[in-house]
Amino acid sequence: MTEISGPVLGIETSCDETAAAVLSPDGRVLAEAVLSQQEHAAFGGVVPEIAARAHLFHLPGLVAGAMERAGVGFGELGGVAATSGPGLIGGLIVGSGFGKGVALAHRLPFVAVNHLEAHALTARLPGLVPEGLAFPYLLLLVSGGHCQCVSVEGVGRHVRLGGTIDDAVGEAFDKVGKLLGAGWPGGPAVERLAASGDAARFPLPRPLFGRPGCDFSFSGLKTAVAQLVATYPPGPLPGRDAADIAASFQRAVAEVMADRAGNAMDSFAARHGSRALVVAGGVAANAALRGALAQAAARRGFSLVAPPLRLCGDNAVMVAWAGIERLRLGLSDPLGHAPRPRWPLSELAA
Ligand code: KG4
Ligand code: ZN
Repeated sequence: MTEISGPVLGIETSCDETAAAVLSPDGRVLAEAVLSQQEHAAFGGVVPEIAARAHLFHLPGLVAGAMERAGVGFGELGGVAATSGPGLIGGLIVGSGFGKGVALAHRLPFVAVNHLEAHALTARLPGLVPEGLAFPYLLLLVSGGHCQCVSVEGVGRHVRLGGTIDDAVGEAFDKVGKLLGAGWPGGPAVERLAASGDAARFPLPRPLFGRPGCDFSFSGLKTAVAQLVATYPPGPLPGRDAADIAASFQRAVAEVMADRAGNAMDSFAARHGSRALVVAGGVAANAALRGALAQAAARRGFSLVAPPLRLCGDNAVMVAWAGIERLRLGLSDPLGHAPRPRWPLSELAA
């Protein structure tokens, strides 16, 4: 284990959250800041060029503020970790370029963090699980861009067990949110709407439910919602109906996810002795989904580990932590490391 000489600065800019965090070498959060860019709301989706410019505008101030609150000077840092993929290339260039600049100016090791690995390792942050979560564990990564089941076996060692064959689950929430006129981003808006709805009113399809394997599919479900909405006259849906559709959709998603995660747990348990299911990514904030997963996990003797909501969505604490995990193993990256818009976990080096 390599000793890290000081706190680690983490930077996240892969999508529409600009975030900075400073963690002590043992993983205590000294300061954190997340700015969810509002610039995209009017477009109903993330506009890559606007995101890149907004990162450029907001990042320096966020980093300076986090460093000040942490009471740490740049020269006292033990390393810089910046998300370097996968994600929108403009934002990746801004964040990783900024991180490399700090590393170069202060002669610090730089870690090019894979955003998926950052989500995957979040559950190992000290304090989340009393004695710390050991490898291996099963990860269900559910966000706007990703939906996959991964056996997390070590830093840089991830085995993909299954994933979506079409849309990511967060994407489905976002599209349904748009169809229902619920606002953007769709996930939290659909969950709010669903709270007062009747989840049993509309029988929606449950793609791949009951089939072997742990792949997911959401496009048929999304299309079914679109067809249902199209049976209403143009204009806003009656409030009651919108709530019932939201609730019916959310229940279908939760049931499908619990079924697919159930298969993943069975296959994980056949190969490993440990029994932990970690859910991460923005959609992990959804209470109906957490409830369904908790039941599926309990039935199999798995414990469900769900990071607090602020660490589920994109944030820089997870990036700094992934950096610390790598630095401890003596791993860092050259300043010439090029950001990668596509960067599957299978292409990570340990
Ligand atoms: O991890 P994340 O912040 O960014 C990506 O890497 O994609 O995830 C954002 C996604 C969005 O699709 C958003 O609608 C969804 O997570 N989301 C939710 C909820 N909160 C965020 N989906 C369902 N229920 C929620 N409460
Ligand atoms: Zn993410």
